[in-house]
Amino acid sequence: MTKDTVTITNNATGEVAEFALSRGTVGIPAVDIGTLNKELGVFTFDPGFMSTASCKSAITYIDGDKGVLLYRGYPIEQLAAKSSFVEVAYLLMNGELPTEFELLSFKDEIRHHSMIHEALRVFFNGFHYDAHPMSMMVGVMGSLSAFYHSELDMNDPEHRRISAMRMVAKVPTIAAACYRHSVGWPFVYPRLDLGYCENFMNMMFSLPSQKYVDKNNYIDPVTIKALNLLFILHADHEQNASTSTVRLASSTGANPYACVAAGISALWGPAHGGANEAVLAMLAEIGTVDRIPEFIAKAKDKNDPFRLMGFGHRVYKNFDPRATITRETCHEVLAKFPSDDPLFELALALEEYALKDEYFIEKKLYPNVDFYSGIIYKALKIPEDMFTVMFVIARTAGWVSHWMEMMSEPGQRIGRPRQIYTGNDVRDYVVESDR
Ligand code: SDX
Repeated sequence: MTKDTVTITNNATGEVAEFALSRGTVGIPAVDIGTLNKELGVFTFDPGFMSTASCKSAITYIDGDKGVLLYRGYPIEQLAAKSSFVEVAYLLMNGELPTEFELLSFKDEIRHHSMIHEALRVFFNGFHYDAHPMSMMVGVMGSLSAFYHSELDMNDPEHRRISAMRMVAKVPTIAAACYRHSVGWPFVYPRLDLGYCENFMNMMFSLPSQKYVDKNNYIDPVTIKALNLLFILHADHEQNASTSTVRLASSTGANPYACVAAGISALWGPAHGGANEAVLAMLAEIGTVDRIPEFIAKAKDKNDPFRLMGFGHRVYKNFDPRATITRETCHEVLAKFPSDDPLFELALALEEYALKDEYFIEKKLYPNVDFYSGIIYKALKIPEDMFTVMFVIARTAGWVSHWMEMMSEPGQRIGRPRQIYTGNDVRDYVVESDR
């Protein structure tokens, strides 16, 4: 028995076994229970993975009690203040901040791969104009593998790298195409003379009759700064539901485009990335500050399925540092793009009210990244049904980083959880006449 092991006794049989403690650079150590079934004839049961580490990863670290978020060791507050989304994508994918030459090369390669195959554009015509953009994102991202089947040898590091680059490069183009299809506007191609965020906004809003980017390539700097910031904040977040989905799909050897499409599907849920869209709908339903107590009461009512969207988090039991940064950015964006829509004031009042309420204090429910992000997207004229698509653009950098990390590790095994069976014990077939 040592300090680096945990002893477990099966009191039903009296069997005792020791299991190694795995410790990371920082954070909670984990008991390696891979041989638990063999040693003690039992499984662990943790359906929401409340106490389960699914993998080892060097990409992102969260300390939920202290409200700490590190990308490759760099605090999110510093990256938000000093970096750009493309640089953060490089950091997540490669493990280090790029030199000036590395960043220029990375940007060039992203621009080079930002177009989508012309045949892919036809896919959008199969969707009704009112299809939710996330349904188009899932379908089109998953279909990318049909265009790159000559570079899908997942044992080839260069095939893995180019697949990851293609997805980071093309996801804004696909996202903007979803929007253009939904409003019946002509598709806008990415340009080699624009940056990542500038290209996206141009592909979203440029019209034959009115160019979004003027002849000097000018786009309002507040818009680009806010978009870079939101993409940085949403780029990665350890083993959240959608990243875990990408990892589980990847464990079967499925191609990366299919794995990321699975991640997009998981992100869509209102308990996850769909929350940013749900926050706006909730604020619209609340409408005025005087109705806040009514909705706080609903959120606390166990018999009411209503939850305060944009509040609570599985890991953060303190402020989500991303919410704090986003709230500050709201002030800057709304100062630049004033709106008579009282959303932000309502959100601030709702946050203030909730944080004083015993229920939210006792359950450590704080605003999460989704609480304020939608207010900024709305101020930037991004339509609400595109909010989760914005999350996809940013999180693709995190998903492909985890995918590359996982696929580069030797001895990968398929993820195949067990269960507690609660169905019928064995029984004989009953012919229809006897039922
Ligand atoms: C994201 O995992 C990640 O990292 C995700 C993410 C990322 O970057 O990838 O951070 C992005 O998904 C942020 C979360 C966005 N979702 C929402 O804002 C939806 C609203 N929040 C909840 O659905 C909830 O808080 C979750 C899903 C975020 C977390 O769920 P948990 O960890 O399973 O918490 P829980 O449901 O066990 O809640 C604990 C208690 C419960 O009460 P009891 O059963 O203990 O009495 O808190 C209550 C819950 O009912 N609770 C809420 C609440 N969130 C939790 N009550 C009212 N409103 C809420 N929002």
